Amino acid sequence: MRSKIVAGNWKMNKKFDEADELLYQISEELSNNPLKDVQLVVCPPSLYLELATDFAESSDLKIGAQNVSHQKSGAYTGELSVEMLNSVDVEYCIIGHSERRKYFSESSEMLAQKVDNLLEFGIEPIFCIGEQLDDREAGNHFDLVKKQLSEGLFHLSASEFSNIVVAYEPVWAIGTGVTASPKQAQEMHAFIRGVISEKYGSDIAEETTIIYGGSCNAKNAKELFSNKDVDGGLIGGASLIAKDFINIANSF
Ligand code: PGA
Repeated sequence: MRSKIVAGNWKMNKKFDEADELLYQISEELSNNPLKDVQLVVCPPSLYLELATDFAESSDLKIGAQNVSHQKSGAYTGELSVEMLNSVDVEYCIIGHSERRKYFSESSEMLAQKVDNLLEFGIEPIFCIGEQLDDREAGNHFDLVKKQLSEGLFHLSASEFSNIVVAYEPVWAIGTGVTASPKQAQEMHAFIRGVISEKYGSDIAEETTIIYGGSCNAKNAKELFSNKDVDGGLIGGASLIAKDFINIANSF
């Protein structure tokens, strides 16, 4: 059975004290009401990763980074390497989020390089794909998603691919309050699983966790997660409130 994952992407939010408080609240909620069959992941700003992995030591929480350099080490001012993430026990890393593709011009080659570096250190990439509204309106959304998937990931061997979490995030739903309908989400998740199956076979496709992101919240999570190919969520805004985040994780 493939794993279910709910991951919180804090983006560029929370000062140190607030981050500390939110991590405390999430850990408390988790120890009072342990989750069943779902892995909770928090992806705070990199400045708080070590703080977060300290919290995670005594709870079921796992910690992810929001980004990592495609370079391995050296003179790259301002960057963080995979080795550094590994040295503070980070276990996941979001790769190819649409905000990074858009504002930081991250190319597919760069993303593929990041994925390779992460896998070398045993960190699981949460690899984001998703179309713009224009693509969907023009009917190009399936082609686009397939292209992102193949350019970023299909150089991997089958055993490497089995460590990937795919996040489908339609860009028009991110931070907009407009969520993909459960039908749209299921349709695209099933398509993604089909593309993975063509490349790696049905066993690997069935084992791949595919999560949904884009204005997923405590109110709509249940309906989204009830679809057979939706294995959880990548949550932005709603992951900044401990109760909402935990409620989402309890929505299966
Ligand atoms: P949102 O963000 O839940 O605030 O729409 C999701 C994401 O960008 O991962």
